[in-house]
Amino acid sequence: MTQQPSMTSDADVRARVESLLTELTTPEKAGQLTQYFYLGFIRNEVADGAPSQPELVEAALTRGGVGSLLFLMDPAEINRLQRLTIEGNRLDIPALVGFDVIHGFRTIMPVPIAMAASWDPSIIEQGQAVAAREARSVGIHWAFAPMVDLARDPRWGRIIEGAGEDPYLASSVAAAQVRGFQGARLGSAERVVAGPKHFAGYGAALGGRDYDESNISDAELWNTYFPPFKAAIDAGAGTIMSAYMDLNGVPAAGNRWLLSDVLRDRLGFNGFVVSDAQAVHDLVTHHFAADLSDAAGRALHAGNDMEMTFADPAFDHLTAAVEDGRVSVETLDDAVRRVLAIKVRLGLFEEPYVDEDTAAEVLADPAHREVAKMAAQRSAVLLRNEGALLPLAVDQLNSIAVIGPLADSPRDTLGPWVFNYDLAETVTVLDGIKARVGDGVRVEFAPGVRPAQRRYPSMFDMWPDNSPVDPADFDDDDEVAKAVELAASSDVAVVVAGEWQNMIGEGASRCSLELPGRQLELIQAVVATGTPVVLLIMNGRPIDLRWPAEHVPAILDIWYPGTHGGHAVAALLFGDDSPGGKLPFSWPRTGGQVPIIYNHTRSHDPENQGRRYWDIESTPLFPFGYGLSYGRFRYHDLTLSSDSVSPDNTITVSATVTNSSGRAAEEVVQLYLHQRYGTSSRPVRELKGFERVAVEPGASVTVEFTVGPAERSYWSAATHDWVIDASVFDVWVGGDSTAGLQATFTVTPA
Ligand code: GLC
Repeated sequence: MTQQPSMTSDADVRARVESLLTELTTPEKAGQLTQYFYLGFIRNEVADGAPSQPELVEAALTRGGVGSLLFLMDPAEINRLQRLTIEGNRLDIPALVGFDVIHGFRTIMPVPIAMAASWDPSIIEQGQAVAAREARSVGIHWAFAPMVDLARDPRWGRIIEGAGEDPYLASSVAAAQVRGFQGARLGSAERVVAGPKHFAGYGAALGGRDYDESNISDAELWNTYFPPFKAAIDAGAGTIMSAYMDLNGVPAAGNRWLLSDVLRDRLGFNGFVVSDAQAVHDLVTHHFAADLSDAAGRALHAGNDMEMTFADPAFDHLTAAVEDGRVSVETLDDAVRRVLAIKVRLGLFEEPYVDEDTAAEVLADPAHREVAKMAAQRSAVLLRNEGALLPLAVDQLNSIAVIGPLADSPRDTLGPWVFNYDLAETVTVLDGIKARVGDGVRVEFAPGVRPAQRRYPSMFDMWPDNSPVDPADFDDDDEVAKAVELAASSDVAVVVAGEWQNMIGEGASRCSLELPGRQLELIQAVVATGTPVVLLIMNGRPIDLRWPAEHVPAILDIWYPGTHGGHAVAALLFGDDSPGGKLPFSWPRTGGQVPIIYNHTRSHDPENQGRRYWDIESTPLFPFGYGLSYGRFRYHDLTLSSDSVSPDNTITVSATVTNSSGRAAEEVVQLYLHQRYGTSSRPVRELKGFERVAVEPGASVTVEFTVGPAERSYWSAATHDWVIDASVFDVWVGGDSTAGLQATFTVTPA
């Protein structure tokens, strides 16, 4: 039975909320603003006699001290705790159950950076709709996603959770994710509340070091970091999560300019703001707040409505803060209104419990696995294909060597930020190749190198799957030799290399981008056999591929492809489908180049942009928006509806792409814009439109874009406000950010 969508009008919501609010005491209001982790599934080492974390939470439930819970996955457990919540408060207010449903719940989609690489809002929406249906089926109401923090420094581990470096692509991805999670309106059946995060500027961490401060100019904030959040808000996101770090010297969780002046007054957000885990406590850690009472008052006053915590909530001090006037009753009531409104809209008062019998069927739906497979196929990016080695012809092969530990690691195939997965049903690259080629071809596996160990512990090590253990008798040299021997005796070698999934994500930044362990040595030794090599990259950030980009004929970035990733990879390897993904970030040659972005300004000596270092080219190894195909595309006939317009008018740009190959394929047609002069310097190019199109062999497709005030307006570093200049503009249309097909138009003064 699926939940009936709550058909609650705004007026009904307001009336219901006000009637509750007038009944609540100040401590009960503080309870509604308190969200607890419930860590019942991990062992709780506690001192003799001290309550465990779950026991602390259950005690809070019985005194009306909890408005929301997170990290629950089992429907029966959720119902049990929901009953304690309702029975534990005078007005029978249910708890809002949240969880990190980032790229799937039971059916795991490719990681978010991979979904962004599809440049396909439709598959992204489908993927998050599947995640929402599965999460809601077990009683989860709210996803702490999408993560919309732009990342321009790939040393930062959480680049994997976002949509890369560009505000236009990230805005399109954010809106598609919110639509997928929430459906047509908040409260739709089989959907959850979307919770974009982490507001804001988290991805600009100093040195790419997760949690370190971000220092970002106003122009960068308004032109680059805020737009994806604005897109998520305009798509109707119900909540926003504030970020951990200092933004320009003020912790985000206590930053009133950020959470009220910007988020509410300028971006128009009217849902509620939840802190990140312990981030209200952290205001003391930051040496920003004097104590928990100070932290609670300043967080709430800033606009941080709900506290996410493990124990000892800072918000337990809100009553005192109200009584001594540090927080107004109006501020407290406004926060409670926003939280209660979400609960009313979701219909939780009418249906607080989940039907425990339907979850298993929903979680096992084969249609969900098909969406995951399609998403993985559409996310892969073909980086190199010398001599058209790909696609491989199965009927011309007798033997395939599959090499590298990542080729047969179900846990790594899923990537980080997943918890309710089923490893037994996860299809690895090796599984997928074997299933695709059948018994007529000998497929053998050799790890070649040991499952590389993280040097430092990860917060996710509490889940045993996240910290692989090397076989005790693993002989490194011997394993390389075995892999080389296998490659030498095979028709083709498929090598899977990259980063283990516990080497990227939260708390997993790196100082270099090199392939961990002895993977590069393994690739070089396999190439030296002379057997044709296909290199598959399993990653969430760009990796130093300088050597492979010169010596390995075929390189396909498969990211962490999810539950049916192996089937998707096999479909691409053997030509059942063509790769069509494009890079959502500039791919550095080496970590020493970062940050490196495509939409920089011309600055001085632009003709020598490629030679800013004396020891290496300063261009990326692969540019933003880049990706090859089994098709062959040519762009032509770029036309403008006018070569001169007034500032508030729009022109139409059209261009044609022809597929001169003999096979159907998809191409992401991209539009870039440059303004030649204005109140402040403008990027050499900015993505302002894209469309993924299918092109039959020998056929042509014409794509149209509109370029109007929305595409030309920007926040000026000179006037400190939004401007639309009269100027001369260049437009390019092509298959990546180096597109050469160009036209020019003028915007005349009003
Ligand atoms: C984590 C992350 C945040 C996540 C939250 C709950 O520390 O920063 O993205 O949603 O805590 O798990």
